[in-house]
Amino acid sequence: MTFGGAVATVVVCLLNLVSAADQAGSEQKPQMSETVFKNVQILKGIPVDEFMDAMGMFASALGYDCASCHAPQIATNREAFAIATPAILRARGMMTMMNTINRTYFGGQPRVSCFTCHRGSYRPEMAPSLALQYGELIDDPNAMVMVPDRQTSADPVFDKYFRALGGADRLANLTGFVARGTYSGFNTGGAQVPVEIVAKGPDQRTQIVRMPDGESVKTYDGRNGWVAEAWRPLALMTLTGGNLAGARLEGIMSFPAGIQKAFTQWQVSSTTIDGRPVQVVQGASAGERPVNLYFDESGLLVRLVRWNQTAVGAVPTQIDYADYREVAGVKMPFRTAVTWTGGQNTVELSEVRPNVPIDVATFARPAPFARR
Ligand code: HEC
Ligand code: HEC
Repeated sequence: MTFGGAVATVVVCLLNLVSAADQAGSEQKPQMSETVFKNVQILKGIPVDEFMDAMGMFASALGYDCASCHAPQIATNREAFAIATPAILRARGMMTMMNTINRTYFGGQPRVSCFTCHRGSYRPEMAPSLALQYGELIDDPNAMVMVPDRQTSADPVFDKYFRALGGADRLANLTGFVARGTYSGFNTGGAQVPVEIVAKGPDQRTQIVRMPDGESVKTYDGRNGWVAEAWRPLALMTLTGGNLAGARLEGIMSFPAGIQKAFTQWQVSSTTIDGRPVQVVQGASAGERPVNLYFDESGLLVRLVRWNQTAVGAVPTQIDYADYREVAGVKMPFRTAVTWTGGQNTVELSEVRPNVPIDVATFARPAPFARR
């Protein structure tokens, strides 16, 4: 599967959307796909952030980049995303087929997605694979469906985690922090640029990336979330659904003592990441996609995987945590790497100042991205 290559090219496409940022939409309500875009026929009535996640599903499920379906003119002109190419007509037909399958055979549940058939290829296999049948069983640690170990409860896993972090008392004493470091990712071409993260318990968080052309801001205020980033289709995009839940989760994980209460049910299983054994704890709440938390043998969190439900299936986001260092007696991951269908980025902290005064305005709705 040429997954890595596909992701790299997705990135280039997203950068092409930059010019859209000039057409700022700053209203508080989520912006809907059919009002923002020119030629939406099937994916109507969904917010722009979910629409872009659907594009991420398309690219990821088929092993495609944006230009595999869209007209080549997207390289210079974002309006060209609206041009109906043969691949786009085909993809529209596929959405109709998929919706019919789900409606007819799965009671309207979104059971079949583009990935169910495509699995990273534009031409799904017809014949079963003997290599798969007789080959070594490959366990994907990020699978959403897991086989729970009914003998084990999540409580001891969380107890060990909190102890490994420094204990409940120290966790309770950390109420906020201001962190500085570097950000690198698909939108910097791998170059490191300064980043500042401000967080306040239990879940408020703002991340400001000082890009050469302006400040990229991502904020969760305890209820609402926004992104004001150059590469998004809007200069200020309101987060909805799984993206909003994800922003909240990132806020909570800055003060992890609150994580157990964030989901109503927890199940435990085990798997390996890079050959090392980990315990997986899956949190679920009615009507939401689950979250997977992975703890290493020392008890520390090494990975988090969550999913955004879209109109064409669920897309994953993976966050890897490393380089734990002590801040006010609490271990904090100084290295965080985020991977999703649209790209990858890494934040490496150099300094964290605990319990400093924080201006509440830090978590207010950011200004639309403005090019310097
Ligand atoms: C498998 C084919 C496919 C891939 C790959 C794909 N798209 Fe699309 N895209 C579509 C289809 C189909 C539509 C129209 C959706 C509809 O009519 O509901 C669309 C519509 C769009 C639109 C709205 C254009 C307008 O003004 O109406 C944008 C923006 C867009 N895509 C961006 C992207 C980006 C960015 C990527 C890469 C991450 C991408 N697409 C990858 C098939 C694809
Ligand atoms: C039930 C299985 C199934 C599902 C679900 C499905 N596809 Fe397909 N798709 C196929 C098959 C089979 C082909 C290949 C047909 C062929 O060999 O010509 C195909 C072909 C395509 C092609 C043409 C590829 C090319 O270049 O030849 C596109 C684009 C496509 N699918 C997009 C999608 C998208 C987007 C979704 C999700 C909305 C989706 N498909 C869901 C089975 C599926």
